[in-house]
Amino acid sequence: MHKNPIVVANWKMNTNLSDAMVLTQTIKNGFENIDHVEGVLAPPAVWLYPMHEKISDCSIKHLSLCAQNIHSEEEGAYTGEISVVMIKSMVKYVLIGHSERNSFGETVQQSNQKIKLALKYNLSPIVFVGEHQRNSPEGEVVEDAKQLLKGVDREDYSKLNLVYEPLWAISSQKGAEPASASEVEKTVTALKKTFGEETRVLYGGSVNSQNCTEFLRLDDIDGVVVGNDSLNAKHFLEICMAATHTYGSD
Ligand code: PGA
Repeated sequence: MHKNPIVVANWKMNTNLSDAMVLTQTIKNGFENIDHVEGVLAPPAVWLYPMHEKISDCSIKHLSLCAQNIHSEEEGAYTGEISVVMIKSMVKYVLIGHSERNSFGETVQQSNQKIKLALKYNLSPIVFVGEHQRNSPEGEVVEDAKQLLKGVDREDYSKLNLVYEPLWAISSQKGAEPASASEVEKTVTALKKTFGEETRVLYGGSVNSQNCTEFLRLDDIDGVVVGNDSLNAKHFLEICMAATHTYGSD
């Protein structure tokens, strides 16, 4: 287990302002009792500023914010888009290449450009590497990760977080079920071997407060990404607590 595991809450396009503020306050209170684990909240971009105001003035240093996306250019005529420059002072992390974004047309080349741009501005990219078919050889995920990271300096690997995200396991897919611990282990170990100990490797796909320990106790895993169940503050805190316990039992 990495010495600083992270638990990422991907709220996707959910919550209104009041939901977001209540969730943030509840999670912030819960983090008074959580050590060794960093909670990473990825809300819709419009809530980043009020959430930043809420958590930046407190003594809790292991709760961070994350953007769900940035544009691949720094500025320009891109109506409706959000630039890294606009969010860099509020967030530590940015999600890049989530399969839902790929389904809206984001290409590997664009994700690669976004990773480099995030690193240029000292943000830590959380890069999703999908698996389309169950039981694909783990080499395919490793190859896809290599394409996503093409041209990234080796010295920046310590700022990277790779997420093994089987598409068939994401809760929004019909009939989705989480990957088994052994499927996750096989792939995260292959990613670690290729990209080195310094690169964090996470699992995402139907993780919830009931099944999280199966994943968090795997040797090579450095955390999890939680979609649906992260909209429930109690469950999200339970997952963070489970990560603390797993860390503590090492
Ligand atoms: P889920 O989402 O936990 O709802 O399956 C995970 C993800 O999309 O990263």
